[in-house]
Amino acid sequence: MDTGQIPIEKLSEEDAKGELNRLATLITHHDHLYYLEDQPEVSDAEYDELRLRNDAIEKRFPHLIREDSPSLRVGAPLVGPFKKVRHRRPVLSLDNGFEDQDVLDFFDRIRRFLNVSRETIIEIVAEPKIDGLSATLEYSKGRFVLGATRGDGTEGEDITANLKTIKDIPEFIDAPDFPSVTEIRGEVYMRHEDFMAMNKEREAQHLPLFINPRNTAAGSVRQLDPQVTASRPLKFFTYACDDYAPFHVTTHWEFLEKLKKWGFVVNPLARLCENAEDVLAYYHELESQRASLPYDIDGIVYKVNRLDWQSRMGYSTRAPRWALAHKFPAQQAQTHLNDILIQVGRTGTLTPVALLDPITVGGVVVARASLHNEDEIARKDIRIGDTVVIQRAGDVIPQVVSVVLDKRPADSKPFDFPHICPVCGSHAIRLPGEVARKCIGGLICSAQAALRLRHFVSRDAFDIEGFGSKHVEAFYKEGLIQSPADIFTLESRDRQSLTPLRNREGWGNLSAQNLFKAIEARRKIPLHRFIYALGIPQVGQATAKLLARHYLSYKAWSEAMMAAKNAESEAYADLLSIDGIGPSVSVDLIAFFDEPHNHTVLGDLLKEVTVLDEKPLEVGSSPLANKTIVFTGTLEHMTRPEAKVRAESLGAKVASSVSSKTDYVVVGADAGSKAKAAKELGVTILSEEEWLELLG
Ligand code: IVH
Repeated sequence: MDTGQIPIEKLSEEDAKGELNRLATLITHHDHLYYLEDQPEVSDAEYDELRLRNDAIEKRFPHLIREDSPSLRVGAPLVGPFKKVRHRRPVLSLDNGFEDQDVLDFFDRIRRFLNVSRETIIEIVAEPKIDGLSATLEYSKGRFVLGATRGDGTEGEDITANLKTIKDIPEFIDAPDFPSVTEIRGEVYMRHEDFMAMNKEREAQHLPLFINPRNTAAGSVRQLDPQVTASRPLKFFTYACDDYAPFHVTTHWEFLEKLKKWGFVVNPLARLCENAEDVLAYYHELESQRASLPYDIDGIVYKVNRLDWQSRMGYSTRAPRWALAHKFPAQQAQTHLNDILIQVGRTGTLTPVALLDPITVGGVVVARASLHNEDEIARKDIRIGDTVVIQRAGDVIPQVVSVVLDKRPADSKPFDFPHICPVCGSHAIRLPGEVARKCIGGLICSAQAALRLRHFVSRDAFDIEGFGSKHVEAFYKEGLIQSPADIFTLESRDRQSLTPLRNREGWGNLSAQNLFKAIEARRKIPLHRFIYALGIPQVGQATAKLLARHYLSYKAWSEAMMAAKNAESEAYADLLSIDGIGPSVSVDLIAFFDEPHNHTVLGDLLKEVTVLDEKPLEVGSSPLANKTIVFTGTLEHMTRPEAKVRAESLGAKVASSVSSKTDYVVVGADAGSKAKAAKELGVTILSEEEWLELLG
């Protein structure tokens, strides 16, 4: 069942839980790509849709809100230990206009609000709307003391150290008329030229390339290490303040003049206009120059020049009434789609990328564009050989908007999205509720292997002491360890190696011996740790424990997972009967065992390690020891969770559905289908009183 498609009002509680889990993971993933790696893979609209769905489900099931819910993070996600800063006054947004008519309406609104005649000149300062990241700069006694991101408008993050690396931001202003305390506002951005030079250098160093100047600028000021920020070619335009009063000026234009005099950088294209005609002429002039400007702008900002008028007009809740952002239309171009490349990410997601004849869109050469996922390609029926419309819009990476059908070659065929991972040849599957197709050869797929191996040796998995992620990654890169079994043959191979570990940089005899000892110590491993170490999607520690306690041995577990492939089988029913295991996890478990490559990896590994059977709980003579029990209906004397804990403490397994393996069904008030199923299967039925008696 694809829970991503179910309308929210139809979600069952279990669906909702799974769905919130999925959304939390997905949103965190996209946040990470956007804010930290500057490499978003979905459009803002798609991202917003995920957040909206998350919020709506939480509204319906408030008790299911997760501790790590994306809704509990305001604005930008918490990625670094940046201090929160409350803005002295809120950093507002701007109202948007798109058509010339919206500008005429803006003038009309101003006239009506101020009650001035058609003859009165309304001066407007028009400034390019820089597509960057806004920041606030607090100055105290002429010194730049605190710099922050906009955040949610009320509270931002302290990025002072990073902003101090930007040369356009004066550190100290030695002028008698500069306010003793003030907050200057503006935009951090990157010039095209600098952006491309930086990417060229990264390419030479085999570093991942950045997608566009805006995201790179945003990512750069949110670096934990100011040295990194300093290495990025960032610029700053100043255009506002939190309060004009201490500047002793009567117009915005005068304010800008003063900023320039003090050494701030104000956009030289800003223009003082006298009426709507002037303003629109300016807009269209800049629109035609847009592609040749040295940086990205996404529109023009108009501001009423007279500050007394600005104060009279004031603010709505989100934006000043005296300003308007007149946006440019999205930038589009047509080009030829030469091929569709499938990239495999570190978590196994297959991402299709359009390889294009390079074309300039809004001043930037575009040779690749995101195709997002399989459904998107099918929905737009994008085919290799097509002529496609490419769009760069604001902070979104280039996208393929549509196909020019008139130009489609006669022999073109719909694109067949691969079901096989192009990197390792394993199957790539799609889970219910997921848009992404994922490679399930996690243990061998080189695109994912380093990450999986790190998981494999981590503390809650094999817990190999002194084998940190740095070593794993280094060993993987050098080809010393490709698959988990290689860890356990490391020592014997090392003995024959011409470059043994002890002779390598950073290693000595002792540290090498210690590592080998730590590996030896883990040749025997409890079943639950083993299951967890395999890194099967959705199988965390808790699920691994549930499985281990249910199946008790590796043999029983693996055989059951293979048998469960048949949805009609007893094994499948038994798997689903485990309380805490739902259909979605089952799919991942079954898929893992259905992949031949994984059997090779498991076979090799089991030659090296022994998986210890899970001990049935020490429960003495409890009549409930190793019995499987199902609760149904409402219990009077204890809650369901309490009943579960009591049963488990006496060695019982609590299941959520009745099968022939169930030993007891405890029937409370208003019991429904489960009681009926128990009767049909001949399972012993206990009343609440009988249950209490069993508990003693
Ligand atoms: S003035 C109260 N001027 O656009 C007025 N904003 O969509 C505050 N922006 O958050 C903003 N260039 O990041 C202003 N010349 C300019 C701008 C500008 C870019 C950004 C700014 C703001 C966003 C609103």
